[in-house]
Amino acid sequence: MSDSTLRVFDTEQRIRLGIWGLGRGLSFFQTCAALNMEVVAGCDYNQHMRERFLEHVPGAFATGDAEEFLAQDFDAVLLATFCPAHAEDAIACLKAGKHVLSEVTAFHTMAEGVRLADAVESSGRVYNMVENYPFTAANMYLARKWREGLFGELMYGEYEYVHEILTLAYTYIDGQPIVPGNQVHSWRSWINFHYYNTHSLGPMMHITGLRPTRVVSLPSEQRLPGYLMKGIHGMGGIAPSLINMSNGSVVRNLMGATTNDTHVQRLWGTKGSAELVDGQLRLRLGGSGSSPRLEVHPKWDELGELAAQTGHGGGDFWVLYYFAREILEGTPAPFDIYNAADCTIPGILAYRSSVEGGKPFDVPDFRNKSERDQYRSDDFSQPRYDVKNGLFPPDADPALTCQFSLTMRDLVNHTNIYRAYRDWSKVAGDVKDPARLIKLADELIDVLPHLQRTQKVARNIAEAYPSSDGARVLRETLERSEEALTSRPEYAEELARERIRLAAGVA
Ligand SMILES: NC(=O)c1ccc[n+]([C@@H]2O[C@H](COP(=O)([O-])OP(=O)(O)OC[C@H]3O[C@@H](n4cnc5c(N)ncnc54)[C@H](O)[C@@H]3O)[C@@H](O)[C@H]2O)c1
Repeated sequence: MSDSTLRVFDTEQRIRLGIWGLGRGLSFFQTCAALNMEVVAGCDYNQHMRERFLEHVPGAFATGDAEEFLAQDFDAVLLATFCPAHAEDAIACLKAGKHVLSEVTAFHTMAEGVRLADAVESSGRVYNMVENYPFTAANMYLARKWREGLFGELMYGEYEYVHEILTLAYTYIDGQPIVPGNQVHSWRSWINFHYYNTHSLGPMMHITGLRPTRVVSLPSEQRLPGYLMKGIHGMGGIAPSLINMSNGSVVRNLMGATTNDTHVQRLWGTKGSAELVDGQLRLRLGGSGSSPRLEVHPKWDELGELAAQTGHGGGDFWVLYYFAREILEGTPAPFDIYNAADCTIPGILAYRSSVEGGKPFDVPDFRNKSERDQYRSDDFSQPRYDVKNGLFPPDADPALTCQFSLTMRDLVNHTNIYRAYRDWSKVAGDVKDPARLIKLADELIDVLPHLQRTQKVARNIAEAYPSSDGARVLRETLERSEEALTSRPEYAEELARERIRLAAGVA
């Protein structure tokens, strides 16, 4: 079945779509044709993003100017601009008469959320949020079985979206270094991970049909090296919260950037339990703690087969499908503005809880106007990093500092290869498959000349402006790379000898 032959909706009506933000926004257009959608316009400040867009959709209208974009004749916007800007950008789209499919999260402050809910209601347009993680084969299966009562009432859940993305603080989403190179990413350089909470909370809300009612989070201060904001505010740390759901159960929602990416999902119901670990879905059914635990293989239906060919385990297909269906047939999508608010608010309040020493906060229901009104002026949000001027002093030489973003990206990537080899070689005798270590050594041998070149540039920038933030993150990464050891010319030979010894041990 190919997407060009499949007809999903029984109508000739087409939805003319504009994409605002052409990084992540480009993930969707392949799915559009089968869903009666035609991409006709794109908007991005960045020329290289616009050029990539036009390669995919020749003949579309492309601009860097949002006003010009919104003035074009099309029906709906896929909104994939900067995360903390979604509310205001969505409101601008609604005002221009467009339906909106907004990337996560829906808004960044409570007051913005109130304005957005008001704007959706008065626009009469469709608003959906792209929370795509609930719509994998496993999560859709769990949602079906939950509704059938297989698991009973929710008692407790653990949902995780732990994702270390340090280099994205210094690059665009496609890995290109930020330009000019003495600046950092608009929000991935500073946003506290509590704010990016929907990919873990969203699935659990969708599976169980429950909404969050109260949230609490203790501060967690440790940060990985190489991140710009230290302490409890910025990225690069762990962001756990405990959330009461509407049936009185508790969920641990865990986000963060740390040394073990995990997307584990575990649900405990009064009749049965489920856990999804490394893509394997296991149920424990029978109602006692030691009931049989077996793996199951959730199956897709016909549309699911089409979905499976798209990104995020099919999730990108389903959010677009629900959005098109709501526009064409009026069937409500799972993440309308109210469910989007339920999913977004616990992140904002969890961050607030963590900086207020673990104080619990009720999660207001934005369906209820009087509850919503109480948050009209609530502009609380985390301090932002000065992405344009924060890295170096104002009189710094741009010829040197503009090498920063490329240098930092490469230094982090090369250092990760060094650390993987170095740290695994400390437990070489205990590794089940020691041949893997040889591969790690080979990777390091290949990258070493690049690491050594990058170390030199990093050292030059750091020594020119030693008390700057730019210098600090470079030094932290140089330290991880054990510069004193690895930058010596003779290190290449020492490494080659180590590899020979390793290979002899394996043979
Ligand atoms: N649901 C998912 O699985 C998923 C995956 C990746 C990203 N996202 C979300 O998608 C959004 C976009 O993420 P991204 O990865 O593309 O990174 P990004 O935030 O770097 O990209 C935003 C793009 O929009 C452009 N842009 C921003 N504001 C603009 C404006 N006012 N006018 C013109 N262009 C503008 C930027 O130049 C940039 O290319 C983010 O909010 C992110 O959270 C979601």
